[in-house]
Amino acid sequence: MEGKIEPGMRAFRRRSSASERAKEIEAINCIVSGKNVLITGGAAGLGYAFLNHFLKHIANKIVILDIDVEAGKRIALGIEKSYGEKKVHFIHADVSNHKQMSEAFEEASSLLGNIDIVVNNAGILDERRWEKEIAVNIGGMINTAMLAMKYMSRNTGGHGGILVNVSQHVDIRNTAQLPVYTATKHAVIGLSQSLSDPNHYEKTGVTVITLCPGLTETALTVDSPNKLLSRVMKADFVKNLEQFAIQTPYIVAQGLMTILRIGETGSIWVIESGKAPYEVYVPNPCTLRRYYKNNLAHVDAKVTRGHTIREVCETTRASLMSCA
Ligand SMILES: NC(=O)c1ccc[n+]([C@@H]2O[C@H](COP(=O)([O-])OP(=O)(O)OC[C@H]3O[C@@H](n4cnc5c(N)ncnc54)[C@H](O)[C@@H]3O)[C@@H](O)[C@H]2O)c1
Repeated sequence: MEGKIEPGMRAFRRRSSASERAKEIEAINCIVSGKNVLITGGAAGLGYAFLNHFLKHIANKIVILDIDVEAGKRIALGIEKSYGEKKVHFIHADVSNHKQMSEAFEEASSLLGNIDIVVNNAGILDERRWEKEIAVNIGGMINTAMLAMKYMSRNTGGHGGILVNVSQHVDIRNTAQLPVYTATKHAVIGLSQSLSDPNHYEKTGVTVITLCPGLTETALTVDSPNKLLSRVMKADFVKNLEQFAIQTPYIVAQGLMTILRIGETGSIWVIESGKAPYEVYVPNPCTLRRYYKNNLAHVDAKVTRGHTIREVCETTRASLMSCA
């Protein structure tokens, strides 16, 4: 009998997982329902999928902020037909332009009243125009995060809330051909970790979460092989991409809803290969420290094919333990 599944048991399992899903939806609704949301880069890709999930979980009003005026207006108009007037507003703004963003948040605040959730999502991948990439992916993320904190923080007149900063899946082996893009996405983790410090949270009441999607089918991914620093990298890049299961934006948006329900401030979540979200953490630097013979004064080094190999001192294990 062991391991054998009776037909009745199967039916029970199906019913139980359906009821678990219903409970999950109810729990997400408790977090999202009635909330006012602002999404940057909401006119396409992941941002548009987030918008649809916020609507599904009965958010009150949503502002999408994007540089794509045509798509933004079309989406707002389409939603007006299905959900009624004033449910979704489009604001044209470039996240890398501080003046435009300050005005956009002011407008969003008067349209929404309180801003409860901000998804700091807008980003580009263009290694050839890496200064622009840095301006949007770091400057834009910082602009949005700072304004989100200003409008949501209790100590500046807000009611608290949730800020989600979108980074990327943290495995550098997958992004060797994207050095600048990867650097910008690592900066997002530093930004989130600083803003989510427990001392800040006590004053602001803003939960800061980092979302790290894996490879997802959007315009950003489709165009990426043509946006590398050099054409020579293209073959390796495409080979790398082919190793990974690409997921839909829908799956990432569904995962974000779960994260909003369970994610604590400072938490970092990966959603990859179409699977459920899982949490990762930035290790304590103490546990990352390498130890060398003679305390770095005289490092014993061998040189093999031009690479220096440092010898790790024998006391590493003991030192690590004292470090912990
Ligand atoms: N697609 C992936 O595989 C993937 C994986 C990890 C992380 N991400 C991140 O997710 C976020 C969304 O990416 P996506 O794949 O949906 O891209 P996308 O290109 O499909 O959509 C990006 C949206 O942002 C808007 N946008 C671009 N620059 C802007 C600016 N300066 N100001 C305002 N809006 C701007 C675009 O008009 C577009 O609507 C990005 O931060 C990206 O780095 C994507």
